[in-house]
Amino acid sequence: MAKITISAIKKLKGERKIVMITAYDALFSRLLATSADILLVGDSLNMSFGGQNDTLSVTFDEMIYHTKAVCRGAPESFVVLDMPFGSVSTRKLALKNAERVYRETAANAVKIEGGEERAEIVRHLTQHSIAVMGHIGLMPQFARSEGGFKVKGKDEKAVEKLVRDARAIEEAGAFCIVLEGGKAAATRVITEAVSVPVIGIGAGKEADGQVLVWSDLMGFYEPFVPKFARKYTDGAALVRSCAAHFRNDVIGGVFPSSEEQY
Ligand code: KIV
Repeated sequence: MAKITISAIKKLKGERKIVMITAYDALFSRLLATSADILLVGDSLNMSFGGQNDTLSVTFDEMIYHTKAVCRGAPESFVVLDMPFGSVSTRKLALKNAERVYRETAANAVKIEGGEERAEIVRHLTQHSIAVMGHIGLMPQFARSEGGFKVKGKDEKAVEKLVRDARAIEEAGAFCIVLEGGKAAATRVITEAVSVPVIGIGAGKEADGQVLVWSDLMGFYEPFVPKFARKYTDGAALVRSCAAHFRNDVIGGVFPSSEEQY
């Protein structure tokens, strides 16, 4: 699949759903590239791969390391680096870090969590030639200060706030917006309120596209399975079964065979 452009991503709104999948390394980005329009190096890697309870402690250096690997594995993919906690607190810091992303990796865009209150940061980056994907609704980087992972858009006032967030981010120049953990009815309103694509996660089917964390969609991540994640295979069982077979073969003296040695 050839690398999609930002204008092509925007044109998909209303035409067909956008497919985004997270990727954290070259091995999987190579495999996922054929199915995803966009590969997201999400800070969720801190949980699924780093074994942490939230996304907050991943460092900028780690995000750069993983993004380089993803880009190497999928040179034809449109790759987005998720700006980690603390990396976009001020306009100056955000630009310094985002420029580092473009300088040191082949990523095409950065993703920033935050609504109205982050619009000026988004504007600052887009005015300096950095492509920005917004992220509103349930924002894992705000979960600790908000007291947990909370579904958004539960009442009229909350939906109005999300619409304001989406419009502010669009107006600031974001080419696309992730909407996480929104009530399905709210997603339709928000998606219709902006002209850029809205990619949902745990936000129902009314969004312009869907994103899932790859280890959720393949059943590798066991500590917590979100209600919205569809498991397309049982990756955890597959790995355990392969490892157990290998163990049996080694202990039983049937690995390696004569064809598997020099
Ligand atoms: O970190 C991540 O993987 C994300 C997606 C869940 C959108 O931000």
